[in-house]
Amino acid sequence: MASVPSLASTVQQCLADALSAALPEAGSADPLLRRSDRADFQANGILALAKKLKGNPRELATKVVAALPANDVLKDIEVSGPGFLNITITDAAITGTLAARAADDRLGVPYAGKAGTTVIDYAQPNVAKEMHVGHLRSAVIGDAMVKILEFAGEKVVRRHHIGDWGTQFGMLIQYLIEHPHELDHKDADVSGEEAMSNLNRLYKAARALFDSDEEFKARSRDRVVALQSGDEETLALWQRFVDESKIYFYSVFDKLDMEIDDPDVVGESGYNDMLDETCRLLEESGVAVRSEGALCVFFDDVKGPDGNPVPLIVRKSNGGYGYAATDLSAIRDRVQKLGADTLVYVVDARQSLHFKMVFETARRAGWLNDRTHAVQLAFGTVLGKDGKPFKTREGETVRLVDLLDEAIDRAAAVVREKNEDVPEAQRLTEDEIAERAAQVGIGAIKYADLSTSASRDYKFDLDQMVSLNGDTSVYLQYAYARIKSIIRKAGEARPAAHPEIALAPAERALGLHLDRFGETLAEVAETYEPHKLAAYLYQLASLYTSFYSECPVLKADTPQQVENRLFLCDLTARTLGQGMALLGIRTPERL
Ligand code: ARG
Repeated sequence: MASVPSLASTVQQCLADALSAALPEAGSADPLLRRSDRADFQANGILALAKKLKGNPRELATKVVAALPANDVLKDIEVSGPGFLNITITDAAITGTLAARAADDRLGVPYAGKAGTTVIDYAQPNVAKEMHVGHLRSAVIGDAMVKILEFAGEKVVRRHHIGDWGTQFGMLIQYLIEHPHELDHKDADVSGEEAMSNLNRLYKAARALFDSDEEFKARSRDRVVALQSGDEETLALWQRFVDESKIYFYSVFDKLDMEIDDPDVVGESGYNDMLDETCRLLEESGVAVRSEGALCVFFDDVKGPDGNPVPLIVRKSNGGYGYAATDLSAIRDRVQKLGADTLVYVVDARQSLHFKMVFETARRAGWLNDRTHAVQLAFGTVLGKDGKPFKTREGETVRLVDLLDEAIDRAAAVVREKNEDVPEAQRLTEDEIAERAAQVGIGAIKYADLSTSASRDYKFDLDQMVSLNGDTSVYLQYAYARIKSIIRKAGEARPAAHPEIALAPAERALGLHLDRFGETLAEVAETYEPHKLAAYLYQLASLYTSFYSECPVLKADTPQQVENRLFLCDLTARTLGQGMALLGIRTPERL
């Protein structure tokens, strides 16, 4: 396995060398290489340099060009405009570089220079509650980032910070004590749907009683105290709620084609033992102070509408711990026990103030510092077609499972319709249609989420998501399957690179884009922006479409050209397949 330097980095290096040879007084100046529409690349760095050296940029540019040694990569360099360089590289260099990528399992993509340990907090639904579209976003974006970071060589630890603690459990457990047969079944017997409907029923019944019966309310409050003090019977019942919910969570993650491992599910309750100490450390160091009986952290720039400071409450005046205490304890655990260099939180942007205060508190306490930092990968709200937060017509939260099922149904219709166009002998069976429908439908939902910048809100529009045209996963999946079918039809002819063959413009454009895969992944891993990978893949499929319409593959002029074009097809398919896999989306061989 060998990483392959991209053409951009090779050209950048040639220019940097020529710059320091021609203009030693420039030190190590950056040639500022960019992609260009006029040539393959453009270098703009000489302009700034000329200003610094008080020279004429066109003259300096000409000197740099003269200093370039002859090599096989650069075909043509011209000085243009006020002193830019327009750079065209040889066809042989393009094909040769791509051949080196094709020879490598990782398509020549290097591991990140400075790999460390990232703990990523994502896919964190709440016990005894239905999952909604917000949980979908966290799961989809988080899962893609895990795969992208791992591919870059980062050690990744997953944490699913589920909401499994809080006062509502007092009411639920008390109800279960008084109605002992409610969750009576063996786990293996229930589906995810049934588990959730059991929990829903129980939740509603407990809530109704809590609101109408003062004595039940009092017993529920005592139950919270028993839970927090670790009473065994109470804890055992609490565990039954957690287990029942997990049956449901796993069924949804399974439908989402997402692997979630039980040991990585460490919910709020997982930090119970640390809460006292977290508070003691914060108080002793003066980071937190007592205010009206509560333990608080104050910030100069966080104020309420009345101008008064709004503190982060680490411990309430009644002694109870909330969301902040758990998150601060989780930071200590992740940094000190799990050895994290980076903490990533894939959480709704509406929790940004909470994380800002939590991170700042952890910095003041010394748990986060220059070496260990935390980021919130904040995502926007999922909107309905009307542009308002996504709700049912009755104003209720939309159940995630219903959406997933609907997407799969729509996808089945698309796959079935396409299947009609195929000669009878090649048609998919009903089972195959069902399998493809799941891959297409779930892919459509994931891609719609991942192809918009996470920070933005997006409209949940199934019609658009499963469309065959436009920036959708279905379009990419069909592009992949079409390439695979061409390669199958090639028979004896095998993909093989022939660097001596001249390339058509569409081949060059496709080739240069294929060469950018590694750079794109590096950027995505660095900035936590999976939508840039989606955009790269969409452009790849579009460039492939142009290539395919302009350059006959199986009917090319010579057997070598057939092989070389098959080679481009094959590398495109592998790059698409790898990229989609990193987004958590399947690419069936046949659709
Ligand atoms: N369970 C929370 C919710 O549904 C998300 C948890 C986010 N992670 C965290 N460490 N606070 O909104």
